[in-house]
Amino acid sequence: MKKILLIGILSLMGIVAGCSEKGEKEKVKTKVLKVAFNQSENHPQYKAMREFSDRLEKETNGAYKLEISPNGLLGDQRATLELVQSGVIQMALVGNPVVENFNQDFAVIGLPYLYDSLDHQKKVFLSGILDPLFKSVSKNGFEVIGAFTAGSRCVYTDKPIMKPEDLSGYKIRVMQSDTMKKMIDLMGGVGTPMGQGEVYTAIQQGVIEGGENNEVTYSDLKHYEVAPYFSYTNHLMIPDLIVINEKLYNGMSQENRKIFDRLMYETIEKEFLAWNKNVEKAKEIAIENGATFVNIDIKPFQKNIEPLQETVKNHSDVTRSIYKKVRELAN
Ligand code: GCU
Repeated sequence: MKKILLIGILSLMGIVAGCSEKGEKEKVKTKVLKVAFNQSENHPQYKAMREFSDRLEKETNGAYKLEISPNGLLGDQRATLELVQSGVIQMALVGNPVVENFNQDFAVIGLPYLYDSLDHQKKVFLSGILDPLFKSVSKNGFEVIGAFTAGSRCVYTDKPIMKPEDLSGYKIRVMQSDTMKKMIDLMGGVGTPMGQGEVYTAIQQGVIEGGENNEVTYSDLKHYEVAPYFSYTNHLMIPDLIVINEKLYNGMSQENRKIFDRLMYETIEKEFLAWNKNVEKAKEIAIENGATFVNIDIKPFQKNIEPLQETVKNHSDVTRSIYKKVRELAN
């Protein structure tokens, strides 16, 4: 009787969620980490995070699990990063340009034509060479704990874009950073920063002529309905950063933190493997719905972008060193 009473009191205090038969194993109350994601449940990053959550819950013996809000329900990426900083939510996936606004050095890992292939990018993300850069923003209340691939980005609009001149006078939506705006300007168009959630309507209403993104997002968000030509400029392989509230991350027990980091590493590896499969599926759906994918000669775009590459890679000693290390890992 006394024992039952004691368990009841401890449960109410949230100290013990359950005891094994022998009563020797303590279970802590599950901490639910709210995660913001700006795309759908079909997206490979969503699936990767779901699997991460299941494994995390199991391996930490129920100490942590995730609750992922997809479809930009918690706001655009800039807004959700602020929610992570203040601890209102605990995690978010945000494009590299969003974090560039905290430390300009991040621009170097989101440079146009930096990675030669998905394999090259995977090697870089799993190599540990980006750890000091990631650590550099922790004074802002969040930590960058890894990066997913988001494939290769291309321009899409109402006509094929074969050369930079074809983009003349074309307002193309970019993610919210100066580097992204300069990139499209150099590619021949007019870079127009805005949140991803506004792009469909902006094209539909003629505020902009198109966007630039990977096949998965292009298809997932049905942008083919308003911009049916997807031209393979392949200008950018942007890292999608996994961010977490700094206090929460550094407040984990050593043991849980080790599990968390190992599972995150494995999740990143898996997301890379899943990416290509998703690209094929996304293309099929877009084509069925009237999209045309156009192969082009990327050299003129590469040439135009060189001044931006020079400026960004020479921004600081850090960017020079990262650029060199990233290139050394190319096949
Ligand atoms: C990709 C990327 C997102 C980003 C989006 C955008 O889908 O994965 O992180 O938000 O592009 O263009 O804003």
